[in-house]
Amino acid sequence: MKNVIVTGAAGFIGSNLTDYLLIKGYRVLGYDNFSTGFEENLSNAMNNPNFTLVKGDLLNLDLLKKSFAGYDFVFHLAANADVRFGLDHPYKDLEQNTIVTFNVLEAMRENSITDIAFSSTGSIYGEPEVFPTPETATFPVQTSLYGASKLACEGLIQAYCEGYGFKGWIFRFVSILGERYSHGHVFDFYRKLLNDPSKLHVLGNGKQRKSYLYIEDCITAMFTAIEKSREKVNIFNLGTDEFCEVNDSVGWICNRLSLSPEIILEGGERGWIGDSPYIFLDCSKLRDLGWHPEFTIQESIIKTLDFLIENDWLLSKRD
Ligand SMILES: NC(=O)c1ccc[n+]([C@@H]2O[C@H](COP(=O)([O-])OP(=O)(O)OC[C@H]3O[C@@H](n4cnc5c(N)ncnc54)[C@H](O)[C@@H]3O)[C@@H](O)[C@H]2O)c1
Repeated sequence: MKNVIVTGAAGFIGSNLTDYLLIKGYRVLGYDNFSTGFEENLSNAMNNPNFTLVKGDLLNLDLLKKSFAGYDFVFHLAANADVRFGLDHPYKDLEQNTIVTFNVLEAMRENSITDIAFSSTGSIYGEPEVFPTPETATFPVQTSLYGASKLACEGLIQAYCEGYGFKGWIFRFVSILGERYSHGHVFDFYRKLLNDPSKLHVLGNGKQRKSYLYIEDCITAMFTAIEKSREKVNIFNLGTDEFCEVNDSVGWICNRLSLSPEIILEGGERGWIGDSPYIFLDCSKLRDLGWHPEFTIQESIIKTLDFLIENDWLLSKRD
């Protein structure tokens, strides 16, 4: 791996990965349509001669095939990353996740690129019966269009590995936190509290158990797996060995902001249809390769909040 493509390079995870790759001396092509990504996220990269940006849509297969020439590894991160609103626009996950992944695989095939790392999600486990949930969990029942579309992407990648000699690394992330984070519960709670510090509406009963991973730990985990696991298809859960309740997270956030709002629980075990009330992945497969996370969930939430406090421009950028 020397010349690396990052799809979704202007997004939260993609831009952090891009900066990491550039620091390590890789030549990087960032491909993004800026639908949810921001130019501000690429301010470091744009000053680096090893970085090339293509502003384009992954649905544009012709542009994709042309742009991929001369590269040898793809991190495919671009997606509709929002699990919550899938039922409002059922075509979106299919198009932005599954069809786009098919296009990426086709552009790779056209350019004889065989190595792909893919950002899948713990959401593909739906509501599993085993905790912590291993990669080998019984084939899961899907509970969200997002998870279903990502599982379809995993299937396509596996079939290209089998049929066209590709090598794939499939990473099933828990929720990722850290600098440039721009969607998810810390973002939502902070924005709500800025608008009204006296009360905080929380979806569900607050007892949902969730897992999180800090962005730097996410990136080092992916590199550990790519360097040390070289099967045809390499599937890894990415998370920490802990989870927290939404109520814990609310407490940490309010404490950091020195606020004591009235907490209004909307009720129910789930925040929305498709919200998994308990996410806790078994990450021992990755740990057995020598990786371990540096940050706890609490530390990750505080670091994320501090980033949002220092970067209030981001708060107005999201609906
Ligand atoms: N953030 C998390 O907690 C989390 C958890 C599990 C999985 N993931 C996955 O990780 C990946 C990155 O997530 P993120 O949080 O950085 O999301 P993000 O929304 O910040 O980044 C996605 C990027 O992809 C770009 N993009 C989307 N559709 C595109 C298209 N058709 N053509 C070109 N560019 C396009 C967006 O503009 C954006 O810059 C996604 O695949 C997401 O599903 C994220």
